Amino acid sequence: MAYTEWTPALEVGFPRIDEDHRDLLAAMNRLHEAVTRGEDREELAKVLTFLRDYTVSHFETEEGLMIRSGYPGTPGHFAAHAELVLKVGDFLSDFRAGRVELTEALLDFLETWLVEHILGQDQELGDYLRARGIPA
Ligand SMILES: [Fe+2]
Ligand SMILES: [Fe+2]
Repeated sequence: MAYTEWTPALEVGFPRIDEDHRDLLAAMNRLHEAVTRGEDREELAKVLTFLRDYTVSHFETEEGLMIRSGYPGTPGHFAAHAELVLKVGDFLSDFRAGRVELTEALLDFLETWLVEHILGQDQELGDYLRARGIPA
């Protein structure tokens, strides 16, 4: 699977969120590169942990914006974030314990999840924040 490139279609029009998304894609691509190069487990766990931590802090930024703006889609968007964080956390524990491998299928899942989430729930949030005139 090819690396995920940033495209203008991914822009949600809210700078704080868009900057995070660019960084997330970059972190995703670093993980992809580490897998492709066949880096050792310790290095892969380090890169995946960085991606997970960055994702958690990005989700917190979006969730803070949802709460402060009274966003009506908050419950569903929170649930999607929580589900991904749980999945990645479980995978990371299993990977550190040597129970699973970091495969192309996992990269594929993460990349697809991220792009679809940005194009769906994050775009809706960006539209709402802009319509409400929330300062970027
Ligand atoms: Fe989101
Ligand atoms: Fe996001």
